[in-house]
Amino acid sequence: MIYSRIAGTGRYLPERVLTNADLEKMVDTSDEWIRTRTGVERRHIAADEQSTSDLCLEAARQAFDAAGVTKDDVDLIVVGTTTPDLLFPNIGTLIQEKLDIHGCPAFSVEAACTGFLYALSTADKFVRAGEAKCALVVGAEILSKIVDWKDRTTCVLFGDGAGAVILQPSEEQGIISTHLGADGQYKDLLYYPYGASKELHKTHLPDAKIMMKGNEVFKVAVKTLGGVAEEALRKNNIDKGALDWLVPHQANLRIIQATAKRLGLPMEKVILTVQDHGNTSAASVPLAFDVAVRDGRIQRGQLVLMEAFGGGFTWGSALLRY
Ligand code: UT7
Repeated sequence: MIYSRIAGTGRYLPERVLTNADLEKMVDTSDEWIRTRTGVERRHIAADEQSTSDLCLEAARQAFDAAGVTKDDVDLIVVGTTTPDLLFPNIGTLIQEKLDIHGCPAFSVEAACTGFLYALSTADKFVRAGEAKCALVVGAEILSKIVDWKDRTTCVLFGDGAGAVILQPSEEQGIISTHLGADGQYKDLLYYPYGASKELHKTHLPDAKIMMKGNEVFKVAVKTLGGVAEEALRKNNIDKGALDWLVPHQANLRIIQATAKRLGLPMEKVILTVQDHGNTSAASVPLAFDVAVRDGRIQRGQLVLMEAFGGGFTWGSALLRY
């Protein structure tokens, strides 16, 4: 049996750091409110001239080095993002051009904060089917460019960044299974109101900002994330106690704690980056994974559960042996 295995990881965070103290000067909020309600302490913000593909580029280069591959080995590019540079060409092809890669399939997957897990699940199937031998999978966002910096209910939450992994075929266990889901009935709880075929023609965009009913999102997120995490374990007959690490979507510390509790996992086994990165949507899981691989917590052979939840709603989990 052929598995796809994470051969290397990388990340990029923009240089500029915006702290809660900085936000106190911008909107009616406080460091105390942000910390206690979300766990966020600081977040990285992209420079005006940076686009999402620029962030992907740096993360990809790190992942190549970590995997011991070069850009010429790459035969598939899949990117999870909600903030692509352009409506088209898709961001996968923009990364391809910047990396001087030619010919391989390159595309993006739009699933909000679950984007990376949707991308990982897709690339995993290409590798296991023998259609890719070196897949670059990226989760990246520049949410700061679609956030309303006057809206305290959203602007304190989000950040920018990119995380990447290289997937290669392996006879040893790598990605064991992925579990994706969605339910469009919740589309009005978390969305961005403009796109290509609806309202984009408007020149005046007073409501062009992330719209979120945070409280309602919170409740569904807690319930759904616990469910999709347990699904991954149940389908593989793996006991909760066997997990070495949980790498959750970094939207809110309280949501993460609730999922860990449902899995019976102590917080020492949970990778937390929400305090440093904020909610980076599709980038949050690969960023957290790379942090923990590089600081030596996640070791080869260990059992890792990733999970995410986002607008749509969409959700997903991936159980893997690193
Ligand atoms: O990543 C994709 C999925 N997204 C999520 O999972 C996000 C899920 N939701 C959440 O994380 C939380 O709902 C939030 C962090 C967004 C909000 O926390 P909350 O505990 O649900 O607060 P709330 O929305 O119920 O607001 C409580 C109070 C309100 O004031 P009143 O009505 O009680 O007087 C808000 O106006 O907090 C107020 N508030 C703020 N106060 C200071 C809202 N934002 C702020 C702020 N600073 N930044």
